Amino acid sequence: MLSEKLHNELNSQVNFEFFSAYLYLSMAAYAESIDLSGFANFFRIQFQEEQFHAMKFYDYIFQKDEIVELEAIAKPDMRFENIVNVFQKACEHEKLVTSRVYKLADIATEEKEHATISLLNWFIDEQVEEENKFNSLLKRVKRSENNPAALYMMDDELAARVYTPPIIA
Ligand SMILES: [Fe+2]
Repeated sequence: MLSEKLHNELNSQVNFEFFSAYLYLSMAAYAESIDLSGFANFFRIQFQEEQFHAMKFYDYIFQKDEIVELEAIAKPDMRFENIVNVFQKACEHEKLVTSRVYKLADIATEEKEHATISLLNWFIDEQVEEENKFNSLLKRVKRSENNPAALYMMDDELAARVYTPPIIA
């Protein structure tokens, strides 16, 4: 069982993680449209990671004997000025994700809901990695912005990224 408040917030996080997946898919589509297929690959994998996050919340809600209510997924931003702008928006988005996870953790802590706190600790750690990953890629893409050779090297590198689901689900 979960309190109504926590149940609603966790349910809305399922939707938000799917929205994140959709946003990264829109970034993949943009990268594809400007012939950066390695960047597109990177964002397609991010799309998969976000679906994994959504399902982690989804499974948890059922484990707590509650029901998931699926909502409509909002249309993601598809207007990007260039590849640097994509990473700027990705960094902003990850900050928003972190603030939502913190808010959930605040509620779970208030309610002394220790199982949910444990779930959210996984997401708190994950967000440190996510923010770090996007911030460092933003710095690199900014440096490569006016250097096509460097940008294509980065594209080759990102083409090699493969999806590996976390071992501890
Ligand atoms: Fe996520």
